Amino acid sequence: MENSKCVEMSLAGRGMIPYSGCNMREREHMTGELSPIDKAKFVAAKRAAQYVEDGMRVGLGTGSTAAWLVRCLGEMVRDDGLKIKGVPTSTRTAELARDVGIEVISLDEAKWLDLTIDGADEFDADLNLIKGGGGALLQEKIVATASDMMVVIADVGKEVEALGAFPLPIEVIPFGWQTTKALVEETLISMDVLGRDVSLRMNGAVPYITDEGNHILDLHLKRIGNPRQFAMVINQMPGVVENGLFIDICDVVVVGYGDGRVEVRDINAGTVEKERLDFVESDNLFTDLME
Ligand code: 5RP
Repeated sequence: MENSKCVEMSLAGRGMIPYSGCNMREREHMTGELSPIDKAKFVAAKRAAQYVEDGMRVGLGTGSTAAWLVRCLGEMVRDDGLKIKGVPTSTRTAELARDVGIEVISLDEAKWLDLTIDGADEFDADLNLIKGGGGALLQEKIVATASDMMVVIADVGKEVEALGAFPLPIEVIPFGWQTTKALVEETLISMDVLGRDVSLRMNGAVPYITDEGNHILDLHLKRIGNPRQFAMVINQMPGVVENGLFIDICDVVVVGYGDGRVEVRDINAGTVEKERLDFVESDNLFTDLME
């Protein structure tokens, strides 16, 4: 066991595989050190996994919260004999899903999905979302839209009154991206937003490249007055492939808290269910996942 791997894994909240490769003692140590935000992400994922039933085709989101979900589902496949087919929303998630024993198929093979579970960067009271902080918004939106139901898992810090404090990612094709950026900036002048800075997402010294070979522009809007209109206008521009606003796509948000509480908010049923998950003592993920 390499210590560096365990140090890396203690950063489970950043989209990495939680605790993979560490022995039990190291895992117990790390479980004690799990930050409240990671506990919140974990309990949200654990609760959302209850939506998954035998035989389902399930869209698997991308990001640190979705990674917990994939781990939970992997455990259910392994320990409970759950039979599902997973459609990942990124190469990262595909790799993790295979690692934990989930059968992975493409969206074209699945054609339509029963359920997608994914994280979000922001959600509002109508369960509209900003997504794409992890750079996977295009596949995430295609997969979520091709699902009977979308469940979002998020720590409570993702809840906002108005979308836009988190920079809105838009995926643009590399050809002429600077012209596209200028066009976006010009369009922002007439939009109901508070900020108008646009930046090219970087990966170190080079532009970030999505799984589809595109770039991402992050729009620092601070507050989006009319997200529905904004999403439509921005998608009209040549060069823009998709934006990170998910309007009327999400059905349920499972909100996790650092003390193990979860709230299940269902926009269609108009219900809010509250419960508490006992994540440390009873969860096998922390005790035997990697034996
Ligand atoms: C990736 C996403 C993620 O769902 C979003 O960024 C949330 O990530 P995390 O769960 O790590 O906070 O949209 O494109």
